[in-house]
Amino acid sequence: MGKTEKIAGCLFILLIFKSMLYRMGKRWYDYEVIIRKGVRIMRIICAKDYQDVSRKAANIIAAQIQLKPDCVLGLATGSSPVGTYQELIRKYEAGDLDFSKVSTVNLDEYVGLNKDHDQSYAYFMRNNLFDHVNIDQANCNIPNGMNPDAEGECARYDAVIAGFGGADLQLLGLGPNGHIGFNEPSDSFVKGTNKVELTKATIDANARFFESWDDVPKFAYTMGIGGIMQAKRVLLVVNGEKKAQAVKDCFFGPIKPQAPGSILQLHPDFTLVADEAALSLVKDLL
Ligand code: GLP
Repeated sequence: MGKTEKIAGCLFILLIFKSMLYRMGKRWYDYEVIIRKGVRIMRIICAKDYQDVSRKAANIIAAQIQLKPDCVLGLATGSSPVGTYQELIRKYEAGDLDFSKVSTVNLDEYVGLNKDHDQSYAYFMRNNLFDHVNIDQANCNIPNGMNPDAEGECARYDAVIAGFGGADLQLLGLGPNGHIGFNEPSDSFVKGTNKVELTKATIDANARFFESWDDVPKFAYTMGIGGIMQAKRVLLVVNGEKKAQAVKDCFFGPIKPQAPGSILQLHPDFTLVADEAALSLVKDLL
């Protein structure tokens, strides 16, 4: 065998070896798992970490805006979607996204905080998204936490959602106790927008954003389960080990109001984007 053939042979073996290594080492979080239940599909996109969750979720939202520029986005607050919003801002700045025709309906607002309070969700949305893109803020809807007439405010907000015929895409986070929006674990699912008393677990979890536990509002207005389920597409972002039990309870357990997020198993177009840590308790089921 000549020198050239020997080199070519070695290169060939190296190539096969590299491809074997690539297959063996292929990261499990590259996979997208689709669970079929009759006609329902729960799509699980496994991400590496928070940044990866944010990028993958932003890609889905960006596609929604590109396919339907006048779409209605249901938006969420909390730390989970912050990275997603940053990615969307980045795409806007790069000239890839136009928010001018987009409308939004946010999930919830604390009762008693005005829209300029730095912990209100209205402030959060301006600070984390609206002030950084070309959205018309007249088209951005959030429950009014300062309306003392709970019944009137909930009816008003339900009419806003109904006027849109539901969101085209609803973005969600997941509370450590499985709540979505501020729909807390309870004995029944509440359909419409409602005033909810926050559980101690939620107040504890959200206290990090306030000066003290006592400063955390104890009530909130939240879009109900019906408003969320009315969305044509639901996208939930979750990361971190602290959410692993909630992910297991909500998406791999029975559908029950004690695990509010579990209702999403019934949604016809539900996508979960979760990182490795949040999926740590269900890894064997994927
Ligand atoms: C709050 C919000 C929810 C959010 C949840 C999780 O209670 N009302 O919409 O999903 O917190 O927050 P985080 O993403 O900070 O864990």
